[in-house]
Amino acid sequence: MPFVARIQNAALLGKVMTAEQAAELIPVGANVGMSGFTGAGYPKAVPQALAARLAALHASGQTHARIGLWTGASTAPELDGALAQAQGIEMRLPYQSDPTCRKLINAGQMLYTDMHLSHVAQAAWFGFLGKLDVAVVEVAGILPDGRLIPSTSVGNNKTWLDQADKIILEVNLHQDPALEGMHDIYYGTQLPPHRQAIPLVKTSDRIGQPHLQCDPSKVIAVVVTDHADRNAAFDPPSEVSSRIAGHIIEFLTHEVKVGRLPNELLPLQSGVGNVANAVLAGLNQGPFENLTAYTEVLQDGMLDMLRSGKLAFASATALSLSPDAAAEFKGNIDFYRQRIVLRSQEISNHPELVRRLGVIAMNAMIEAEIYGNVNSTHIMGSSIMNGIGGSGDFARNAYLSIFMTPSVAKEGRISCIVPMVSHHDHTEHDVQVIVSEQGLADLRGLAPTQRAKLIMERCAHPSFRPQLLDYMERARHSSAGLHTPHMMDEALSWHSRYLKTGQM
Ligand code: COA
Repeated sequence: MPFVARIQNAALLGKVMTAEQAAELIPVGANVGMSGFTGAGYPKAVPQALAARLAALHASGQTHARIGLWTGASTAPELDGALAQAQGIEMRLPYQSDPTCRKLINAGQMLYTDMHLSHVAQAAWFGFLGKLDVAVVEVAGILPDGRLIPSTSVGNNKTWLDQADKIILEVNLHQDPALEGMHDIYYGTQLPPHRQAIPLVKTSDRIGQPHLQCDPSKVIAVVVTDHADRNAAFDPPSEVSSRIAGHIIEFLTHEVKVGRLPNELLPLQSGVGNVANAVLAGLNQGPFENLTAYTEVLQDGMLDMLRSGKLAFASATALSLSPDAAAEFKGNIDFYRQRIVLRSQEISNHPELVRRLGVIAMNAMIEAEIYGNVNSTHIMGSSIMNGIGGSGDFARNAYLSIFMTPSVAKEGRISCIVPMVSHHDHTEHDVQVIVSEQGLADLRGLAPTQRAKLIMERCAHPSFRPQLLDYMERARHSSAGLHTPHMMDEALSWHSRYLKTGQM
């Protein structure tokens, strides 16, 4: 399809230019809100042109030529990767998973504000993040009146388009125009003290409109691209992830049997990564029918479940598909449009809605401690991995909050169950179930010492279990209090031992 058919607004058609010309219009030092969520719907050309421009400025001695970069969540090498390699990012928020960004952040060369993803839009509206100068948003098309057909993610695009002084649109011809109608953009959010209840009571409810509003007078450039999303392939489920999935399915089956969950369960939220995808593969083979999802990201596993009919409907803010799944999605987009809605991330992750719907939250983690506190973001206390993402939005407010991890990392040199976590993302109050390939610990209603016993017995790897039991036993005899017994001089000794010797 020629690009003129995708840009139906005459004034905006007149603003088509190259990515290099558009990148020239972004002032150095600007805060730039870009589209993109888990490698979907991010601008493909302008960020690379901007990176080249910033690199050239650095080469000419302007070493502080950088921007503030705000997105929905993680993006891709063409965006985060290119700008990070050019040393072009001063401050990044709210989530990233790019290896170069991670390296610079951990080297103290890039600032990073790791935020709950449902908080980002309201923080921008509250004025907590400073001023947004430019929005760079990928879309699938532009309607005659200037409204936009969203791409494969929605993220914070509504907020960026509304808040930014200037807008650059990337119209990606690779994105199927038949995406039109899959989105639901809610414009009813008010600021306190005028907030109203959000009128959504079922995962499939549509409460907004299918298009993004955009003031054409703010658009300074339109760039045409034709590139696929990042589309990383998932590993086939490993023995470890399949065992984790098995424990979760057994647990959910038990919850149905005792009447704490209905047969079709409650809306599922599934985190990112291979373990989460393996759990979905397990559910696709499992006993439950007519499931729904109220989640952040739709990975391959959920597409499989929609196709098999196990999943009746899915609400998310982004797709994150392998190349095969992306092709399948494109080939059967009419089928999926009946069964998927993509919303702004402030709605897909909204605490009010997660609580109302009774979501079952399943997120991966880096480590858990014996008392149930969870670290999702940091390696050995100091280095960031990715970020908290939506895990806190869901875990704090879920009907059931499940955290999963292999019991060991780095070929068994690290125990993912430790005496004390080296960083706290989810406190013991927000963690109801911990599961590893060893087993599942149901922590609901238990006191700290009861939780510790269960987590050590059920989830820890046998090679670390005696050390954990020994820690707990000695703590009971020597700590100042017996509610949550700890030895302050030893609580983080497993991490410091690993840093010194390479073995916990
Ligand atoms: N200590 C040190 N390193 C650890 C570790 C631990 N306790 N546990 C895992 N790791 C390392 C792994 O070895 C691996 O390292 P590598 O990249 O060098 O191979 C890396 O962390 C990723 O672990 P992996 O087991 O492959 O897990 P994953 O791909 O399922 O990701 C998280 C796990 C926690 C990093 C990921 O889910 C995440 O970023 N979560 C936070 C955001 C979130 O939950 N989002 C979903 C909300 S909708």
